[in-house]
Amino acid sequence: TAPDMPLLRQRREELRAHIAEGRLDAVRRQHSLGKLTARERLALLLDDDSFLELEPYRRHQAAGPGLSGNRPHTDGVIAGSGTIDGRRVFVYAQDFTVFGGSLGEAHAAKIHKVLDLAIANGAPVIALNDSGGARIQEGVLALNGYGGIFRRQVEASGVVPQISVVLGPCAGGAAYSPALADFTFMVRDTSRMYLTGPDVVAAVSGHLVSHEELGGADVHGSYSGVATVVHDDEQSCLADVRYLVSLLPANYLEPAPETAEIGARDDYRPRLAEIVPAEPNRPYDMREVFAELADDGEFFELHESWARNVLCALTRIDGRVVGFVGNQPSVFAGVLDGPASQKAARFVRFCDAFGIPLVSLVDVPGFLPGVEQERGGIIRQGAQLLHAYCEATVPRIQVILRKAYGGAYIVMDSRSIGTDLSLAWPTNQIAVMGAEGAVNVLHRRDLATAADPAALRAQLVGEYTQEYLNPQYAAERGLVDDIIDPAETRAALARGLAMLRDKRKPPPARKHGNQPI
Ligand code: COA
Repeated sequence: TAPDMPLLRQRREELRAHIAEGRLDAVRRQHSLGKLTARERLALLLDDDSFLELEPYRRHQAAGPGLSGNRPHTDGVIAGSGTIDGRRVFVYAQDFTVFGGSLGEAHAAKIHKVLDLAIANGAPVIALNDSGGARIQEGVLALNGYGGIFRRQVEASGVVPQISVVLGPCAGGAAYSPALADFTFMVRDTSRMYLTGPDVVAAVSGHLVSHEELGGADVHGSYSGVATVVHDDEQSCLADVRYLVSLLPANYLEPAPETAEIGARDDYRPRLAEIVPAEPNRPYDMREVFAELADDGEFFELHESWARNVLCALTRIDGRVVGFVGNQPSVFAGVLDGPASQKAARFVRFCDAFGIPLVSLVDVPGFLPGVEQERGGIIRQGAQLLHAYCEATVPRIQVILRKAYGGAYIVMDSRSIGTDLSLAWPTNQIAVMGAEGAVNVLHRRDLATAADPAALRAQLVGEYTQEYLNPQYAAERGLVDDIIDPAETRAALARGLAMLRDKRKPPPARKHGNQPI
């Protein structure tokens, strides 16, 4: 028989009491705000009975108003590890019912431990944030705790995937934790992220603004680009985190999880030619193209409402995870601007860091011209995308659907910057610029003096189109590997990915490049 261990039993009972009955009022309040508790969230996120909790007995050792004599177990963060679809993840969930989830020395040390274990074990780390920020009574030790989190997150960057889920307040310096993660999820009405809250904004600028207007999910999902994914409720948010994890490798040395091949190499998709109008200026939704190319029509889109003129998504082709970057002709005609360049650049870097092949679907009229863009640094931001592509050593396939003009053509993974396989549809137009623009530059004087300028223009546009915009032009010069029937695009991608499966390209010896961030 097992030896009687009264002390252990007593401790476990205390812990259970803390978990089950403690802070009932605070739990009620949490629920009344439409929020789940930390443990309810972990139960939704992880496989049943898979959670292994670390340091549940931990208490703070601090003093100060409200802290002396009040030392609850866990210190406001539930830390540990579990599985998602049987695959290991490390996780911590801040518990708003304990000191508002605020972060002190002990709380931070538990998070440090989770991050260290995730790095050492090569498994993704998921943070569920819900916190009033630095625990005021613990002063500079709380700030020191944040620094330790940031340093470890940077150490983990490119080693294991990092997912941050904001499910309550995340203010001040704390906001830099989700900002350093690879993916940040937010929930409407309950998540908020800002460096300074509405009170400080009002005091400093006199501007009255609500929490939601200042740092709600839609602000970061649509304007700042801080949130990668936005949801209406915690349940769908956490289910989506599970879906994302199913597409990610455990670490940079392992492949993303593959599913069975489903015969994509022989797939024929006639609908593709119907989705994309042959006329170069007619808009369409590139998402429909993504859905035709992806296994089961499914993909995980990042930054759906931010920089909508470019699309980034993780998906599978023939069971293998790939990253899609696509221009979006239905938004600003698919031009690249500053935010679109940054969105795509970060995605390209993520895919490259974690060995995920890149498929770039090109239909781009150029970079967005204008005073605002130039002043805003479009050269710098475009260079970020250029740098990201040039540096990427994963398998890279470019598909040119229609337009591919000028600098934007070069940047969208052209042959010259290192794509492995370039495919074009018969509707492709690869050129320095469109026919009208080119004729204006080349024949300005002729047009000014012509007896019938309209007729001359039409003739010159026709000649330019035939000479430079014909679909064979780039292929004859080795800049496109093949011209394919649009219906064969999914098959061609599957075959191309199979060809590039064992691609190895060691990075050059240096400390690191100096990307124009
Ligand atoms: N340090 C210590 N305790 C904190 C805290 C912090 N940073 N943030 C919240 N708490 C405590 C509150 O004192 C309260 O304790 P109580 O239940 O014993 O009264 C509990 O957590 C819940 O906070 P409360 O303010 O009642 O919740 P709320 O939902 O009304 O507001 C915040 C949430 C985050 C907006 C609010 O707590 C706040 O402004 N916190 C301070 C944020 C800050 O400036 N942090 C430091 C900079 S990083």
